[in-house]
Amino acid sequence: MAEKRLDSVRLQNIAQAYGQSAALMSAVELGLFTKVSQGAETIDQIASALDIHPTNAERLVTMCAAMDLLAVENGRYRNAPDVERFLVEGSPRYAGAWMLFTKPGWGEWGRLTDHLRNKDLSVMGDITDYTVDDARRYHKATFSIGLGAGRRFVRQVDLSKRNKILDLGGGSGAYCIAAATAHPHIRATVFDLPPVATVASEFIAENGVSDRVAAQAGDFTADPFPTDADVVIMASNLPMYGRDMIQTVIGKAYEALLPGGEMHLIGETLNDDRAGPIGPAYWGLGQATQDTLGLAHSEADCVGYFTNAGFQNVQVHAFVEGSLSRVCGFKPV
Ligand SMILES: C[S@@+](CC[C@H](N)C(=O)[O-])C[C@H]1O[C@@H](n2cnc3c(N)ncnc32)[C@H](O)[C@@H]1O
Repeated sequence: MAEKRLDSVRLQNIAQAYGQSAALMSAVELGLFTKVSQGAETIDQIASALDIHPTNAERLVTMCAAMDLLAVENGRYRNAPDVERFLVEGSPRYAGAWMLFTKPGWGEWGRLTDHLRNKDLSVMGDITDYTVDDARRYHKATFSIGLGAGRRFVRQVDLSKRNKILDLGGGSGAYCIAAATAHPHIRATVFDLPPVATVASEFIAENGVSDRVAAQAGDFTADPFPTDADVVIMASNLPMYGRDMIQTVIGKAYEALLPGGEMHLIGETLNDDRAGPIGPAYWGLGQATQDTLGLAHSEADCVGYFTNAGFQNVQVHAFVEGSLSRVCGFKPV
């Protein structure tokens, strides 16, 4: 059989992929999917519902249909199933804020080559400069996706015989809120940088678990950890740091855990061949725009960090297929 002749279509599509990002983000900002869900089906109806020019409506829905975000039949548009589930405002699953989460970094991605030439890299990125307002915006986005992840964690991990969670870089407190809601006996500490701890306290109060969940301000690279937890969670901050720092933090967590306790690292991890998936590779490369030492870690890297720290029975579980894995280990009694 003759080999397919190579052309440049794939390369062109990758080079222009930022147009896909822009289309999705604008669709979210304009409320396109919400209006489609509410019954705006034709280009004229969509233009009128979004209060934009019909030509712009046509351009946007054409791109969204090409990206399979919208399905079109006889000039009538409807949302793809995942769009309907996550991008319709008013739903408890609405994750529009998460779709816009990386938009503030847009300009720096345009300067990626300059960043890649910079050899002066730091341990931590711009999160150290965050104000409480920055942290509020950031965690409005993480909470929109994090509470679902927290509930998933609670379904996957048996906490019925556990007493106290320490959530390192716990952000909004989503995991602790989900755990405390599901288990009336569980107490938890959300450990995060000072502005984030302020915001975490707000989320904890809004979700009615302030009696058992508290936020503690601290930098997990430098400050000591509370020593009364039998579960440590560290979720979705793995690519923010390089290998040495992740090893250090996991070692500190091991020392702080009560004997018999367990740690769960939930993160965007590369497959062991380091050839994907794209999510962790994206987050790792994104750290270049912040001039940090952060990068994508593989599942095998994480197993190594746990084992070096002293954890036993180290296991890797798929957490969200194709996106997040959960590495766990146990401290001997
Ligand atoms: C993407 S958010 C994830 C939040 C939460 N774990 C979740 O999954 O919803 C990463 C969090 O790690 C926190 N973080 C990063 N470096 C930290 C450090 N050195 N000390 C404490 N928290 C840190 C950030 O402030 C942020 O809240």
